[in-house]
Amino acid sequence: MKLRRADFPTDFMFGAATAAYQIEGHSFGGAGPTHWDTFSATPGNVVGAENGAIACDHYHRMDADLDLLSDAGMDAYRFSTSWARVLPDGRGTPNQDGLDFYDRLVDGCMARGLKPFQTLYHWEMPSALADLGGWTNPDVADWMADYAEVITRRIGDRVHSIATLNEPWCVSYLSHFLGHHAPGLRDIRATARAMHHVNKAHGRTMTRLRDMGQDTCGIVLNFEATQAASDISADRRAAATQDATHNRWFIEAIAKGHYPAEALDGLEPHLPANWQDDMAEISQPIDFLGVNYYTRGLVQAVENAPWPATAPVGGPLDKTQMGWEIYPQGLQDTLIRMAKDYVGTLPMFVTENGMAWPETDGHADDARTGFIDSHLQAMHAAIGQGVNLQGFFYWSLLDNYEWAFGYEKRFGLVHVDFDTLDRTPKSSYHALKTAIARQDPA
Ligand code: FCB
Repeated sequence: MKLRRADFPTDFMFGAATAAYQIEGHSFGGAGPTHWDTFSATPGNVVGAENGAIACDHYHRMDADLDLLSDAGMDAYRFSTSWARVLPDGRGTPNQDGLDFYDRLVDGCMARGLKPFQTLYHWEMPSALADLGGWTNPDVADWMADYAEVITRRIGDRVHSIATLNEPWCVSYLSHFLGHHAPGLRDIRATARAMHHVNKAHGRTMTRLRDMGQDTCGIVLNFEATQAASDISADRRAAATQDATHNRWFIEAIAKGHYPAEALDGLEPHLPANWQDDMAEISQPIDFLGVNYYTRGLVQAVENAPWPATAPVGGPLDKTQMGWEIYPQGLQDTLIRMAKDYVGTLPMFVTENGMAWPETDGHADDARTGFIDSHLQAMHAAIGQGVNLQGFFYWSLLDNYEWAFGYEKRFGLVHVDFDTLDRTPKSSYHALKTAIARQDPA
């Protein structure tokens, strides 16, 4: 890799990210059922109908997994706490085993000098709340704040930062409009409500965390480099619409207290009554912004189709195992855009960036090393242009449950054999370890 730790600001943090349902093994330790358990049990939704019941068995292998982070010389670990592990029915009586597990996890981070970056919601809605409409129910804001309070009482004294939600676009649009993720809806009214209620839940949870005295609270949003497939005006309009729903809806609500007009064009008739009344709480200050970035999105207009009248187009660039184009320039552009248009000098972190790549002999994954290298260069360039970027978390530490793609798509720095659950660091793990090693003072 071309860049080294010394090329970044002194306190810049290097880490890796994971999420509860994707690694822990949801059948262990008294966790309650979630909408991912039912979504994956419904034929056709997930490759091989695979689920997170065992996943990487991180629940029983936490210490070894934390060792993988510290052995790589990392500074921080981004993980999520599972709502359904903390509160199996979504509300009411907490699961003591679940609270104890996260207590050990945070202590395990501290003991290894890893700063714990917690995310409160990385997608496992408890089934009892999904039964009440999940993200389409306005009460979800209070349900989430109550859950946040329970887990924060237990670990809030030691976590370095708390992100309310991971990727609200996926929680709402991908899951309620495109139907790709749980609960698998394709319904514009449900989508508009979910897109507003995730913001409302973020705001209500921020209020609760502030009332509890927590600092370093923020949110993790996902961005793509949206581009029109051609220069014709219809395609440029299509790109503006997609940019509004994907890249602008959430950050604009949080940073400016309003929604983009190009998105309201289609969604406003379906928003809950008096949604404007929630915007003040949604747009309260945050302490950091987490940026997840993977690829660009080429888009074209579709004639005679209902809003948004857009369709994705395949591009010519090299692709990952997901079929996603590799486009590091988009990360640099996103970071600069966020600073310039929305958050100024607020601290930002790249909270996810990585690639899926198939298994190779000897776990040699030079393609992944190259991907990390090129994206670190994009971050470095953004910092050079004044962006207050304070850290980078590779997605993901381990090969894991890649949602609707099951276990086939491998994002890990560390290979997981899903028969034996053995972990083997790949060549990219070693390359990153070398790049971020601390040099002894001369
Ligand atoms: C992100 C998710 C993460 C993982 C990566 C590949 O959208 O936050 O859980 O699935 O994509």
